[in-house]
This record gives sequence, structure tokens and C-alpha cells, in this order.
Amino acid sequence: MNIQLLNQNIADAKKDITLVYMSEKDLKKSKNKKALKLAGFKATQDSVCFLHNKNILACGIESFTADDIRCVSSVAIRALKNTKYTSANVSIDDKALIPALVEGFVLGGYTYENYKSKKSTTTLKDISLIYTKDDYKSAIKIFSDAVIIADSTCFTRDIVNTTPEDLNPETFAKLAKKLAKENNLGCTVLDEKGLKKENCTSMLAVGRASRHESQLIHLSYKPKNAKKVVNLIGKGLTYDSGGLSLKPGTSMVTMKMDKAGACAVLGIIKAASEMKLDVEIHAFVGAVENMIGGDAYKPDDVLVSRNGKTIEVRNTDAEGRLVLADVLDYAQDKVKADYMFDFATLTGACMVAVGQYTTGVMGHSSALKHSLGKAAVNAGELTASLPFNKHLKKQLKSEIADICNISNKPYGGAITAGLFLDAFIKEENKEKWLHFDIAGSAYTESPWDVNGYGGTGAGVRFMSEFLKSLS
Ligand code: BES
Ligand code: ZN
Ligand code: ZN
Repeated sequence: MNIQLLNQNIADAKKDITLVYMSEKDLKKSKNKKALKLAGFKATQDSVCFLHNKNILACGIESFTADDIRCVSSVAIRALKNTKYTSANVSIDDKALIPALVEGFVLGGYTYENYKSKKSTTTLKDISLIYTKDDYKSAIKIFSDAVIIADSTCFTRDIVNTTPEDLNPETFAKLAKKLAKENNLGCTVLDEKGLKKENCTSMLAVGRASRHESQLIHLSYKPKNAKKVVNLIGKGLTYDSGGLSLKPGTSMVTMKMDKAGACAVLGIIKAASEMKLDVEIHAFVGAVENMIGGDAYKPDDVLVSRNGKTIEVRNTDAEGRLVLADVLDYAQDKVKADYMFDFATLTGACMVAVGQYTTGVMGHSSALKHSLGKAAVNAGELTASLPFNKHLKKQLKSEIADICNISNKPYGGAITAGLFLDAFIKEENKEKWLHFDIAGSAYTESPWDVNGYGGTGAGVRFMSEFLKSLS
């Protein structure tokens, strides 16, 4: 499906069908009011109604806000894909709403059919946004950035949705190299030999029972005259069985998504490089598979992490933090950055705390949390700040090592996981760092907002928005 922004009179635009957005108030004034009412259309949020004889698809919204437009646009595109129309258009006079339309159409229309022998077909080829104002040049920049970000979000979704057999640590490294080649990025990969040399023993322990070698991937985008340097770190568990602290069967299903943080980080560097942002970006990914076997790491093990701290393992299912401990330390040593953000499907507890639609945000800098919160609102993603405190920190105390990989109390698990990561953030970087727990927001088995089934691409939009604000 091709999406374009045109600057012409809506009446001159070639199309099969026109999308008309309306609230209940607008419906009362509509010249098609009678026909729409007859069809049972009430213009409530996310309701759509075809008037085939008028070539109109009416789309119900509560108000003309980006959130409402984005959401109904995804309903509209799904409805359109089931028809025989080949082209659709929509008139827009507020350029601030262009990203919402693009996200609604591109993300709402996304499906993943790689493993279906019979792919679905649609006749819908073109969607045109008809921009009716004069400042077309600035509108086209907004439009093309929105398309890049939406496409990168789909790229992230594709990787998340790939099976653990097809996407294991080694194939993840191959995919990263391919992205680097296509987008002109720097790329270095440490395999297990390299990881040993770098003393990433904590990360290596997690992947030891896997038949795939763990990989630490570093992608870099270095534009000339970069205004800032940003480190992105992603949890890339291509499968999380729980290890010897094995997950129950039903909880294990969907754990191919435990690489979503790493996939987000790849999507973000892809978007930033295609938008040609003036920001230097480094993406670090710890790609590991957490399995069982005679060689598996164990509860009761004590691991020596890359920064020298010793970690008592009491649960092998709290593995993401063990991988991130080493990758965070490696990233801080390799690149001196102005900001450092990690993305991880780290805890089920985060979903308990904030629900499955919201990304949990943790860190020490209130100002930085505020900036990211603002970026998320603008990008149409949900985030919520989870506060650190010294009492929760004590729950990670170990009797035999420097720190324990799980908390000794059952509450506040998302925050104690964040505090575990904090133990691996160098003093000079404390205020530069945020941790995003995307355990709930990265994957869905029932549709919500612009998300269908599977990976959502959580993090790509809000971080791209934040990076744009730096450039
Ligand atoms: N990958 C999981 C977290 C997760 C759970 C992500 C559900 C998405 C959906 C993580 O490695 C994990 O298993 N965490 C444990 C931590 C516990 C052992 C302290 C959890 O959340 O139960
Ligand atoms: Zn786990
Ligand atoms: Zn995990």
C-alpha cells in the first residue's frame, strides 16, 4: 500500500472513496445525516460507516485530536482492506494531524503473514492525504518523517513476530549487519569469544545452555556535526524459557517477544538514520537465548559481572537484568553519551503496576522523565513513571554476594528490577539514564489502538520523537 501527501483541491483528487471524519456534533450538520443515520451510524469514537453510493467512508471521532484520529484511522483502514476499493483519500487542513493519520493507516493496516501459506490480498493500493493549506513544504517534511517512523515501527514488529527458531542470537546479529549495510551504519558484533574477552560473564551465563552463541551487537549512526550523543540499549532475549526456574507452559507462550527491547532499538536507529537526524546514536543489543540443559546456569550460582560486582542468582527467569548489567557497562565504557536509554521486556510486575498498554519509565532525573513523557504524549504512546526509593533498593541485598538478581519481597517488582539495573550505571551517568520496561506494551494478543496481533513496536515512536527534539 502506497501512502502519499498531495497538495491539491480535494475535488480534483483521483480516488474511489473519501474518508470523512466527524463527531456526533458534525453528524448533526452533515449533508449525509439522513443516509448515515439510516445506516445506524452515530459517529461514536471508532465507528465507521460506508455510504457506497456517495463514495464516502464516515469515521466517528469524539474530537479532532491526534489520539482520536489515529485510532479511528486504524479501524477505517482495516475496513477498507476488506473492500474492492483501490484508492482512498482524506482531506486535511491541520498539518499537526498528519502523523496521526499516517500512524493510523500504516500501523493499523499492518499484518504479519510470514508463516501463512495463503497470504491475504487487498485491492487497496493508494491512500492520499490531501493537504489543503499553502505551506506544503513543511507539511511534506512532517509527512515523510511520520512515514519513516511508522515504517520503522513495522520493521520492529516484524522482528518481534519472527519465531525463536528463525530469529536466534546468531540470526539477530546477521539481521543487524544487514540493517547496518542498508542504512550506512557502523556495526561490530562480539560472539562468545569476544564476550569472554570483555568479561561479560553475567550475560554469557544466561546463554550458556542455548545451542546458539550469545551476541553483543553495537550499531552506530554518526552524522557530521551531531548535536548530542545517545546510547540505546536493548534486551534481546530471543527466547525466555525461564531457564532452570522454568516458566509454566502458558507463561512461556509469547516469550519470543522477550527480544522486543532489542528490536525497538534497531527500529529507532533505523528511523533516526533515515530522517538524517543531527544526533549520534549507538544501539547496543544483548542477544541471548535463556534455555535449560546440563550446562544451564543455576539458582545458587554467583556471577561476576563485567563491572566486577558479584550477583547471587536466585531465579534464572530474572535473566534480562543479568544480560543488561553487562551490556549497560560495556556501552558506558565504549561511548561517552549525553543520554542513555534502555528498553526491556523486563518484568511481569510492570504490567501489574501500570497495565499492559503502558511503558514503565524509571530513572533518577525528573526532568528527563518529564521530557520523555512529553515525547510519548506527542507520539501517541502511553508511559508512566515508576518511582525509585531506598527501601525497595534494600530488597536486592544478598547475604553472599554484592547484589541478588531478585527481590526478597513480592511487591514492587518492576521497580526493584529497575534498581538492579541502576547498580550497573556509573555515578556520572545516573542523571542521563532512563529505563523503559515494555513488558506489557511491546506485545498484544488482542487489538488495541493501532495495534493488531503481535509486536506493537513500543518505544520506537516516543524515542524517535525525543530524538527529533534533540536535533
Ligand atoms: N521476560 C520476562 C518478563 C515478562 C513477563 C515479559 C511477561 C513479558 C511478559 C522476564 O525475564 C521475567 O521472567 N521476569 C520475571 C522476574 C521474576 C523472576 C523476579 C517475572 O516478571 O516474573
Ligand atoms: Zn525471564
Ligand atoms: Zn525475560
